[in-house]
Amino acid sequence: MKKKLILASNNAHKLQEIREILGNDCHILSLQDIGCHADIPETAMTLEGNARLKASYVYEHYHEDCFADDTGLEVEALNGAPGVYSARYAGDGHDSAANRRKLLKDMNCQTDRRARFRTVICLIENGEEHLFEGEVKGQILDEERGSFGFGYDAVFMPDEYDRTFAELGETVKNKISHRAKAVEQLCRYLRKK
Ligand code: IMP
Repeated sequence: MKKKLILASNNAHKLQEIREILGNDCHILSLQDIGCHADIPETAMTLEGNARLKASYVYEHYHEDCFADDTGLEVEALNGAPGVYSARYAGDGHDSAANRRKLLKDMNCQTDRRARFRTVICLIENGEEHLFEGEVKGQILDEERGSFGFGYDAVFMPDEYDRTFAELGETVKNKISHRAKAVEQLCRYLRKK
């Protein structure tokens, strides 16, 4: 029987990416699928802390094996910002387009364009916590390129590629992304059992 796992998220892009990467190994349910409409606070100062907060919330309320991920874009010239604040870089209530605009503005005139996406996954299985991590290194461009993907995809070009995540599209992105790598670690752990 397929293992059932709850993903502590309702982000449709993320669910689709993770379901594609995990393939037929697991049956992934979203918060909506289990009738959870809570706005789970993400108040930790680190990606690990936020992933743990989200997974613990679901485990404590639903007593089911679950996992949560938290991702940040860490830009070298900005001392790791936006990092854990990636979703609200341009301020609360602003969307991804505003976040990208702020990033391009903050990177104006910066010659060091190095950045990385980092994803941390916290799995809670039978009450025990396991952490998995994936990262992809690349560069922040000085303008947006491409229309696939979401978030900062249009301004991030992974190393060894000459196109942004938003130009590469989801098939390529899902093979090389930070999230793919973290989910692969999760998969490897689940398969070993
Ligand atoms: P979350 O923790 O996965 O919700 O990610 C926080 C923020 O980082 C999101 O609001 C997105 O803007 C951005 N982000 C996360 N994953 C990606 C990605 O794969 N590509 C581009 N932006 C991302």
